[in-house]
Amino acid sequence: MNNTVKSLGTMMIALGLLFSVFHANAHSGVTEVVKQRMDAMSGMADAMKSMASVVKGKKAFDPAVFIDNGEVIVFHSDTLMALFPEQSIQGESEALPAIWQNWDDFVTINERTKNNAQELVNLAQQGLALRPLTKQFVKLSSGCKACHKDYRKKK
Ligand code: HEC
Repeated sequence: MNNTVKSLGTMMIALGLLFSVFHANAHSGVTEVVKQRMDAMSGMADAMKSMASVVKGKKAFDPAVFIDNGEVIVFHSDTLMALFPEQSIQGESEALPAIWQNWDDFVTINERTKNNAQELVNLAQQGLALRPLTKQFVKLSSGCKACHKDYRKKK
């Protein structure tokens, strides 16, 4: 092997490495965002479960449960839309392409969910009883259901 061929070979290996690094990054980038939104969704699901146990009478009524968990949902709703970059449906994702065909509707459902969670926090802070809080809780949960119905794969 002469020197030119040798250095060409080294260059090819270096390029190959470079591309495989880029490839890995691009891939983990997508996986990362899907994972982030699944974590956000799981956080919201846990918050809903905590409130549901009070609504169902399995746990004693405490307004703080609605305040704290309502705030968790407001928090996640605020960052949720940034976790749905165009066509990020790779791998384990249950997100449907319809999201990006109806982006405004998707965003509107998220806004509504966030506002309903904020309203639940406000009502609990105002000292409302379990019954009206339950009503607001049901309204809040309808946002989760509406969005999943149109934009999440059925199992
Ligand atoms: C604006 C639309 C939207 C709203 C609002 C929404 N979700 Fe989701 N949710 C999705 C989509 C889309 C997925 C699928 C994401 C994926 O797999 O990439 C999902 C997935 C999930 C998952 C599965 C997560 C996983 O680990 O795979 C849970 C649990 C969940 N949502 C709970 C909730 C709860 C609880 C609420 C209401 C407080 C809620 N979601 C509100 C769109 C929404």
